[in-house]
Amino acid sequence: MIDIALNINAISFRYLRMLKHVLMNAAQEAAAIMKEYFVKTFTISNKEGINNLVTEVDHKCEDIIFDIIKKNYPEHHILSEESGEIIQDSIYKWIIDPIDGTVNFANRIPICCVSIGVEISGKMEMGVVYNPFINEFFFAQRGYGATLNDQRIQVSKTTELVKSCIATGFPYTYLDMPNGPLEVFSKLIRRGVPVRRLGSAAIDMCYVAAGRFDGFYEHKLNAWDSAAGFLIIEEAGGKVTDLKGDPYDPYKPGVIASNGFIHDELLAVVQGGEVRL
Ligand code: IPD
Ligand code: CA
Ligand code: CA
Repeated sequence: MIDIALNINAISFRYLRMLKHVLMNAAQEAAAIMKEYFVKTFTISNKEGINNLVTEVDHKCEDIIFDIIKKNYPEHHILSEESGEIIQDSIYKWIIDPIDGTVNFANRIPICCVSIGVEISGKMEMGVVYNPFINEFFFAQRGYGATLNDQRIQVSKTTELVKSCIATGFPYTYLDMPNGPLEVFSKLIRRGVPVRRLGSAAIDMCYVAAGRFDGFYEHKLNAWDSAAGFLIIEEAGGKVTDLKGDPYDPYKPGVIASNGFIHDELLAVVQGGEVRL
């Protein structure tokens, strides 16, 4: 009985090691394409909404990621920004943003990345976010911590929102709602809290994990924007919830992420409160 249990564990460990290898390889290959095309001409087209862009390179990156996954795991489920969902009856689900920060990429601003998360039985188990322009490779596996270029990272220790450095992003179409993106932004900056808008939610979230930002919030994201970043933050000791303070759900649009210490204060401001002085 014990032998069988050990055996199953051994197989699953090997399977996870292989999965990690394939995940990293997919991110690296896509990132190489991003780098190659950054200095070339490429076509840009519009999706729904003004300035919601997709480039030829987003598709090329997605294609290579798909090729690598399908070659190794043809039975796995895939959810990806540009191609939608390849539905398979599998406990493994790859959640892919081939380029997060497409507007930056299209404008030759090197703040963009490939972001891939892997869910197993509905739980995020591995994530990678790679910005090849400054060679920053963020990785996390549940229970093993989060790393930046193989070095362990941790969230910051800031305890007050008023002393924090925050990141946010805005959706491509204006969200007319109470406590919407502009209202929250205005509340923070009126109190002098520095709020950055880098243009890549995945990078914003990794910067929370690395302690560069103390917190991040965004009202309307998709699973592919936040899946990998979520796990990287959790494994770096931080906290991620939805806009109500409930546990992070990749399929809900609102995300608040922080070092944990300022989470309740940031949540209160996102819900309409004021920054405490
Ligand atoms: C966008 C970026 C941006 C965020 C938007 C996202 P894309 O993703 O993450 O920072 O503010 O909400 O849609 O379109 O570059 O993959
Ligand atoms: Ca994105
Ligand atoms: Ca994208």
